[in-house]
Amino acid sequence: MPNFLVVYGSRYGSTEKYARFIAERLGCAALPAEKTKAADLKACNAVIFGGGVYAGKIAGWKRASRLIRKAGIKRLVLFVCGLADPARQKTRDEAKQLFYRHLPAETAQKTPVFCLRGGMDYAKLNFTHRTMMAMLLSFLRRKKERSEEDEKLLESYGKKIDFYDEQTALPVVSAAENL
Ligand SMILES: Cc1cc2nc3c(=O)[nH]c(=O)nc-3n(C[C@H](O)[C@H](O)[C@H](O)COP(=O)(O)O)c2cc1C
Repeated sequence: MPNFLVVYGSRYGSTEKYARFIAERLGCAALPAEKTKAADLKACNAVIFGGGVYAGKIAGWKRASRLIRKAGIKRLVLFVCGLADPARQKTRDEAKQLFYRHLPAETAQKTPVFCLRGGMDYAKLNFTHRTMMAMLLSFLRRKKERSEEDEKLLESYGKKIDFYDEQTALPVVSAAENL
């Protein structure tokens, strides 16, 4: 079994919960990307990274990918945590594209990427995130042909939604065990 480390980028806790669950299953540590140092990666040879999706970016991925590259770690499993439905091909393709921005092509090809679902509590969003969501929702209201997902986002505006389901993280654990 490789020496695992789970690294995560989380703003409001959903990704962190998945990361901690995965780390517990693998019997390793889970560290937030912003506190992870080069020395932490020296002690391991396989990394599981998960990050929350924020309007075309994955929280913590830029920093984590740099550390992973520098440490020469080739055994990787990646997951995003977002609101978008993982059953849709579009959600899975977008997640890969976001990861691939900071991943050498040869590593990308053999790296499993998973999409897990998080949640959102509007009452807890910071000013910037609340403003971004207000802009997105105003755009969706004006959109002529809204998808089912758009409608669901509109319905949930201002409320608390939570899709967290730790069972959905088990394939991430299996992928890591099979590295
Ligand atoms: C400003 C903002 C932008 C977001 N953009 C996306 C997005 O593009 N795709 C998506 O699936 N979820 C998006 N989300 C939802 C988050 O990914 C979701 O809340 C996730 O659980 C966040 O993870 P965290 O709790 O670990 O920070 C967005 C949330 C906010 C507040």
